[in-house]
Amino acid sequence: MNLKDISKQATAGTTTAGTISELKEIETKYLGRHGEFNQYFDQLPKEEKPKQGATFNLAKQKYSAEVQKKSDEIIGRESAREFDVTVPGILPSIGHLHLITGAIEEITGIFEKIGFIRRRYPEIDTDWYAAEGLNIPKDHPARDDQETFYVSDNVVLTPHTSNGQLREMEAMKKPPIKMINIGKTYRRQIDISHTPMFHQFEGLLIDKNIDITHLIGVGNYFVQHYFGRDRRIRLRPHHFQFTEPSFEIDITCGVCGGLDCRLCKAGWLELGGAGMVHPTVLKNGGIDPKKYSGFAFGWGVERVLAMKNNLPDIRNIYSTDLRILNQF
Ligand code: PHE
Repeated sequence: MNLKDISKQATAGTTTAGTISELKEIETKYLGRHGEFNQYFDQLPKEEKPKQGATFNLAKQKYSAEVQKKSDEIIGRESAREFDVTVPGILPSIGHLHLITGAIEEITGIFEKIGFIRRRYPEIDTDWYAAEGLNIPKDHPARDDQETFYVSDNVVLTPHTSNGQLREMEAMKKPPIKMINIGKTYRRQIDISHTPMFHQFEGLLIDKNIDITHLIGVGNYFVQHYFGRDRRIRLRPHHFQFTEPSFEIDITCGVCGGLDCRLCKAGWLELGGAGMVHPTVLKNGGIDPKKYSGFAFGWGVERVLAMKNNLPDIRNIYSTDLRILNQF
């Protein structure tokens, strides 16, 4: 390449530089110790060097001036930008509530709107409140060491929030009772749909003339407000010691809308247990079952959160990986 071509190329490169670092790179490429200009000069035959020296230096100086001009231009543009009051500010990155805290607040808000009162009861409780008083006999499989964590012979990490039922009856003394008890629960289970510590929200409504239709109404109200207007529940016969009759509540699948798909069972997803409070439990809570009746349900916070967000693995909720948490 002759000197003219090198100069032309160098100029062309410089005009395309958008940042100072790009400009520096181009400058080094041409003006550096081993840059294009010096390479050109170095390979000239000895006798040519004195002849071309002046032109060569001039070409370098001219290019150097171009680089300087471009540099001023870029710096000028960047500092002008610094003072451009119309440029939107950079928002500081702030965190958000943990997924579970957020879900608990949302669930609480939904039930509060229809008069339920948020309660919290012990998450470590005696056998009476967690089992015996709920009509669960000593030999019942739900009390098996396999599932319930025992602190001592008589004290457990609550395997459900139903201990709150008896405690609420005692605290309120007499109906009406409209409780939503949300707390931590513990079971010895871990897989894609279980963590050993999880949360339940336990609804309890006791008053005169409460029947299954009230349970259905509250269930539908909840799923329509939490999941969406088009969702509804169904009751499937089940068994719990502390309710009679007992049900498993299902909700229409949000993906297929009830038609049947890979995610659901024939159009339905399982929400959790519910039923009419057993007369023995009312009696144990000091309430006359001849005068009052009520319903109760206990559903999983992680479960509804996973269903709403189509989370494939409930354990991800407790991940500390920001790549997961930042998606919410
Ligand atoms: N305690 C039951 C469970 O953990 C759920 C339930 C609550 C059922 C209230 C009936 C009434 O599975």
